[in-house]
Order: sequence, then C-alpha cells, then structure tokens
Amino acid sequence: MAVQQTLSIIKPDAVRRNLIGKINSKIEESGLKIIAQKMIRLTKEQSQAFYIVHAERSFYEDLCNNMTLGPIVVQILEGENAIQLYRDIMGVTNPSNAAPGTIRYEYGESIDFNSVHGSDSLETSCTEITFFFSQIEIFR
Ligand code: CMP
Repeated sequence: MAVQQTLSIIKPDAVRRNLIGKINSKIEESGLKIIAQKMIRLTKEQSQAFYIVHAERSFYEDLCNNMTLGPIVVQILEGENAIQLYRDIMGVTNPSNAAPGTIRYEYGESIDFNSVHGSDSLETSCTEITFFFSQIEIFR
C-alpha cells in the first residue's frame, strides 16, 4: 500500500472543548504521523473557499459560519493508506451513526459540530493540503 498524506482539521467545536490532545492521541495511536500542524482562525471568505465543493448544498451557509466560530487546528497526516485510515478513525460524518471508538462517536456533538474533517480522496487531499500549507511548513 502507498504512503499518503491527508488533510485533517480539528474544528472549532473540538478546540473550544479542549480536545486537541485527545484527538491527536487517537491519530497517533492509529500509526498516522502528524507532519505539519498549526492553529488558525478562518475568515468567512476562507471558509467559503475551502468548502466551495458544497456551495450548492443546503448546509453550506451554516457550515461556513460554524467553521469561523473559533480557532481550528489544521494538520497533515502521513502514513500507509492515510486517507482511508483517517476516515476510518474519524467515523462517519454524523456522530449519531459513527462506530464506537471513532473520534466523531467519542467527541462529535452533531452533524454540524462533528469535531473533525478529513480529505475524502487523493485528489482532494492535494487540493486541501495546498490550501493551508506551503512546502516549508511540512516536515520531511
Ligand atoms: P466535513 O467532513 O467537514 O465536510 C462537510 C461538513 O458539512 C461535514 O463535515 C458536516 O460537518 C457538515 N454537514 C452538515 N450537514 C451535512 C450533510 N447533510 N451532509 C454532509 N455534511 C454535512
């Protein structure tokens, strides 16, 4: 299997509840390596640009607002099959349906406040990593 990189976001709801360390523990316990990480606060325009793929969805406006409510932690995770592995340990989008032990099961409050985001494909991971990080911010 190939070594991949994926973009992770610890969302405002999780940062506000002091869950950065607990979520990072779950990431590291899975074998994924955090090779870049920073805390930022998105503007509305940045949030809209990041989630532009959802622009036609009914939840777009709320999603873009929710992502600006406080700081987020953006990360690049690296490892074998990292994109799917991170999706597995996050759990499905709606915490109500997430499997026990997953990040969203343990910490997600609702589909709107589901604590984490992860890239859904190789193509998306490249776009999302480039959105947040320059080459000199990524540990090699
Ligand atoms: P995320 O993985 O960040 O991708 C888009 C986000 O939109 C998603 O997590 C949810 O927090 C939010 N969202 C709200 N409603 C829905 C929905 N019906 N389907 C998918 N995502 C939704």
